[in-house]
Amino acid sequence: MSDETFVVPVAVPVSMPGLKVAIIGAGKMGGILLQAFLKNNLVSADQIFATVQHPDRAQALSAQFGVKVTTDNLAAAEQADVILLGVKPIQVPDLMLQIQPALTAQKTVISIAASVKTRSIEDAAGCDLAVIRAMPNTPAMIAAGVTALCSGRFVSQEQMMMAQRIFQTVGRTVVVDEKHMDAVTGLSGSGPAFLYIIIEALAEAGVNVGLPRDVATLLAAQTTLGSARMVLETGYHPALLKDAVTTPAGCTVDGILELEEGGLRVTLIKAVKRATQRAKELANG
Ligand SMILES: NC(=O)c1ccc[n+]([C@@H]2O[C@H](COP(=O)([O-])OP(=O)(O)OC[C@H]3O[C@@H](n4cnc5c(N)ncnc54)[C@H](OP(=O)(O)O)[C@@H]3O)[C@@H](O)[C@H]2O)c1
Repeated sequence: MSDETFVVPVAVPVSMPGLKVAIIGAGKMGGILLQAFLKNNLVSADQIFATVQHPDRAQALSAQFGVKVTTDNLAAAEQADVILLGVKPIQVPDLMLQIQPALTAQKTVISIAASVKTRSIEDAAGCDLAVIRAMPNTPAMIAAGVTALCSGRFVSQEQMMMAQRIFQTVGRTVVVDEKHMDAVTGLSGSGPAFLYIIIEALAEAGVNVGLPRDVATLLAAQTTLGSARMVLETGYHPALLKDAVTTPAGCTVDGILELEEGGLRVTLIKAVKRATQRAKELANG
């Protein structure tokens, strides 16, 4: 780990009584967070003010979760201490114009929009606004996500800890320097899609060698999960764990030779590099 990448020890209360949270753009990711906040009793339903673009979706979400959901971004931002921006990156500048009258130096804005720099949100705020950028990923839906967070210029350590606690409702958190956020987007933001393809391909391979599809999919997915847990829980380098599976003149080493010939390693590296490059551009459309 580089010295600018660190994990802040979290010592904040499990729930945040009294904290009012606006989720501006409760779509796929905003919706996952909304549900996690309720499920974990982070805040109660009457402390959440969510918005979406379409009134019919607002009504449906409100009925589903028992929280106030409207299309009025300014009203939601006015009522909240923490304002979570969950709209698409290209929509952030317009949204900032809408909610600007509600922004004060006492509020915290947390943006999950890929590519959008804390500096551009600070500049649009017109005050010394605490802006935190966060990049969660979709396994957040089952509390198995990972969220990287970075802070803008006016963020206190308490506010960073609060943001970490908020995202711990959907998995692990890590604090990084802002210059790494596009790389995080390319690796862990896009990464679930890359891994689903790998799992799908492994399952397809299992079918090819005669396994029933459901058994092949279970074997592929659980093997991926177990291997990931081995890396996280043993702390061993992945190469060391790979070596432990690779008996001399055994079958695994033959399989690895095929992987290397097929360029899996280089292909994955290129995929993350391309996704990172695209992440740098998203704020501009
Ligand atoms: N999906 C991921 O894996 C992922 C991971 C990390 C970060 N992110 C970030 O999360 C953000 C949202 O992505 P998503 O996948 O959740 O997209 P999404 O499902 O399309 O959600 C966007 C939400 O924003 C709402 N919206 C659009 N314009 C609005 C406006 N003017 N005022 C209020 N709400 C508005 C939409 O309302 P309607 O529902 O009415 O259309 C929708 O609910 C993006 O910035 C993305 O970079 C996504």
